[in-house]
Amino acid sequence: MPYETVLLERDGNVALITINRPDKLNALNPQVCRDLLGALNEAACDDAVGAIVITGAGDKSFVAGADIAAMSKMSPMEGRAFADLGHAIGDTIAGCPKPVIAAVNGFALGGGTELAIACDVIYASDKAKFGQPEVKLGIIPGFGGTQRLARLVGLQKAKELVFSGDTIDAAEALRIGLACAVFPHAELLAKAKELARRMAAAGPVAVAQAKRAMNHGYDLPLPAALELEKQTFAALFGTHDQQEGMGAFLAKRKPTFQGK
Ligand code: COA
Repeated sequence: MPYETVLLERDGNVALITINRPDKLNALNPQVCRDLLGALNEAACDDAVGAIVITGAGDKSFVAGADIAAMSKMSPMEGRAFADLGHAIGDTIAGCPKPVIAAVNGFALGGGTELAIACDVIYASDKAKFGQPEVKLGIIPGFGGTQRLARLVGLQKAKELVFSGDTIDAAEALRIGLACAVFPHAELLAKAKELARRMAAAGPVAVAQAKRAMNHGYDLPLPAALELEKQTFAALFGTHDQQEGMGAFLAKRKPTFQGK
């Protein structure tokens, strides 16, 4: 289904979602958020898709933040509704049974960093810039940044970034664990798709359950999280994919997973 501000394409078993508002550096207004949600749900429900890559249109920006012009006119209730929309994107990515990779191809500021850190893996171009500049506008991060950033880089580093509004480059993002890997700009999308393809080639039920156990377990006390792992591990022995994966290894052939 076509979206006004987002492109959804399929390349084999990888879905590519491109936020397509380059004249505004792909800033997230309510329409972009709704389109992104629609595209994410469509890709999540497509049996032919094994992994999703999100990137920004143009050469300059992943997402330069939530749309400041749109936000400048919002009432508290409208601000709350906008935050709910932004959080729905993060929740959808977290709940998506397929891996979601952010290919950060330029500015990822405010909502751009928040979108990236809601994804499972961040691959960045050497031109990428990250930051949470909201306090410079008199607001705070509202799409998950006050919580997810600290979980990724630690509370102190997250406070340094959120309280100052500083922008950091790709090398610093890599150093602090915000980006998983950095590539020359021209290679970014290919590298992100290669990773997505490797993930999509693995057992889909196993990947989905690993994501669920890791996301859900991260916020549980360790004993409960380890119990979740054991239950998930055990349940996978009842799947076709486990029989196929191990059978194929023992028969020295490639597995054909059915996602069952
Ligand atoms: N919201 C709305 N519009 C935005 C935007 C945002 N977050 N970020 C960029 N744009 C728009 C600009 O207003 C401009 O529109 P115009 O051509 O109609 O004037 C266009 O995108 C290009 O941006 P411009 O500022 O001219 O590009 P630049 O290369 O000089 O600067 C940035 C790039 C990213 C440094 C700068 O655009 C910026 O600081 N953006 C805001 C970042 C931010 O604070 N994000 C968090 C919001 S909570």
